[in-house]
Amino acid sequence: MTTIETATPAAAPKPSRRRGRLIAAGLVILLAAAGTAYWLTRDTDTGAYDPDAPYLDASRPVAERVDDLLGRMTLDEKIGQMTQAERREVTGGDVTAYALGSLLSGGGSVPSDNTPQGWADMYDGFQTEALATRLRIPMIYGVDAVHGHNNVHGATIFPHNIGLGATRDPQLVRRIGEAVATEVTATGLDWDFAPCLCVARDARWGRTYESFGEDPEIASSMTTIVTGLQGEKLGGPNSVLATAKHYVGDGGTVDGKDQGDARIPEEELRKIHLPPFQAAVKAGVGSVMVSFSSFNGEKLHGHRYLITEVLKGELGFTGFVVSDWNAIDQLDGVRDAFTPAEVSTAINAGIDMVMVPERWREFIAVLRDEVNAGNVPMERIDDANRRILAKKFELGMFEHPMADRAQFDKVGSAAHRELARQAVRQSQVLLKNSGVLPLKPKTGKVFVAGRSADDIGNQSGGWTLTWQGSSGPITDGTTILQGVKEAVEPGGTVTYSADGTGVDKSYDVAIAVIGETPYAEYEGDRPDGVKLDKVDLDTLATLRKAGVPVVVVLVSGRPVDVSAQLPQVQGLVAAWLPGTEGAGVADVLFGAYAPTGKLPMSWPATAAQEPVNTGDEKTPLFPYGFGLTY
Ligand code: GLC
Repeated sequence: MTTIETATPAAAPKPSRRRGRLIAAGLVILLAAAGTAYWLTRDTDTGAYDPDAPYLDASRPVAERVDDLLGRMTLDEKIGQMTQAERREVTGGDVTAYALGSLLSGGGSVPSDNTPQGWADMYDGFQTEALATRLRIPMIYGVDAVHGHNNVHGATIFPHNIGLGATRDPQLVRRIGEAVATEVTATGLDWDFAPCLCVARDARWGRTYESFGEDPEIASSMTTIVTGLQGEKLGGPNSVLATAKHYVGDGGTVDGKDQGDARIPEEELRKIHLPPFQAAVKAGVGSVMVSFSSFNGEKLHGHRYLITEVLKGELGFTGFVVSDWNAIDQLDGVRDAFTPAEVSTAINAGIDMVMVPERWREFIAVLRDEVNAGNVPMERIDDANRRILAKKFELGMFEHPMADRAQFDKVGSAAHRELARQAVRQSQVLLKNSGVLPLKPKTGKVFVAGRSADDIGNQSGGWTLTWQGSSGPITDGTTILQGVKEAVEPGGTVTYSADGTGVDKSYDVAIAVIGETPYAEYEGDRPDGVKLDKVDLDTLATLRKAGVPVVVVLVSGRPVDVSAQLPQVQGLVAAWLPGTEGAGVADVLFGAYAPTGKLPMSWPATAAQEPVNTGDEKTPLFPYGFGLTY
């Protein structure tokens, strides 16, 4: 509050007329000062909550509601809307005290009761605090549901995007979006940091499996998932805000380095990496997340041209732009704390909401100082708030702020699992078949080996229950081995041995389920290329010694260098990261579903060949689009 100093007259005036003039002059000064104080800090409106305020009238146009609400907000309330904190980093009362506009769960950040009820209770706890703020603006809660509601134990885990790219089926992917939105809504949440529309150009990149493939056409066609997640328009019963990420060029960095530098001409950025975002904007995506990576040495998080002029201007994106995890802290190349320059650069570049999981209090203070210092114009603050508030109004959050508790049973439902199994079937790519496939169902002796044959964690990959994912029985579902047993027994026999011990000539076939163990982001970078490790190579050698036909099923997030092994196996299937419904792999192996998948990535002849993409001068082992059937 500004204290107002009044002038003290030098000499004692004659009482009467002179006193009157002085009092009048004093009043004028007081009024002028009060008026100035109002304009200087007109955002300090401390009006009480008005239940009849236009912004609360759902019959009014969203733009009107935004204008009315914005006009009531203080600077601190506006900065609060632009701040996203991680659930573990706030304590009771913080959401109210700081008027936080958003919270998130980082990968694996789950309530102690990791059930739909536990999530809904957590969400409602935070929302109750948000509704205790002066203007009762609901907070929006974001989560990475990137292949199902993958933090939640028992949720349906769908194939990662690389497998969905192999299906070439946009309508299937839309239906997956609907199912994911239902499971996210069933736990109370309203914002999904998906889809990833990155175009992976180098399989050494740890996030290749989050991509639909090397050709922007696939990712653009799969933006049907935006409609699946959001509905035809936001605000439906199972509508969550989708996020096109990571804008832009994260899949085109030198050597596939995560958070690296895409050193390419703007023409190539526009031809390869921008189209999926154009398609997502056309599909009405409500938010866009900026990439950690750089474009020709300039961090995307400070790139005003690409964020404001291209995304918001040229593409006409009217939703809001969210930063990635502490990414603004990388702008000066030093990961210390937010400098004022980093904060003002990021906001002025066009970022509307900032994901500052831990140091959100510091961020709020720095941004307030930057606004008061004139380094961030109030127009930019107001634009960011308009974008954020418009989505909250469109989602119906002011009318229905609390968790919908009527759909707990939809999480991991049989219908969603059947959809996931169909997606697994359609994502299998048959790369080699010397006649050994399809296997004979219900009869014969089948030997199954490989560390990923009976492992839900391996077949789901990263972003499953935890950020990095992990091997083992981490959630409910069926392993590939269980699927094989369903197809063969009774009548036939199935023997399982992870390393192949016990295999002999009496078996009709040996299935080796091998490949990668879970990872996420930069933990998955393989600068020397993606190869089979010793465990898998030893398993293969054991099976080959037995002299029985070997079918390799590759559980991996990307093409793996198998050139040396190819001549010694009779069948090769790319299963990608199928998720919880491993039986879908067996459906293809035993012919219940003939393989239809097509490679979404060129398959390198050697690990050293990366990057290899359709149209370049290199000759891959299997070309983009390759896939056999029976
Ligand atoms: C991560 C990822 C991003 C994710 C975000 C929140 O670092 O880059 O894809 O949405 O943080 O978990």
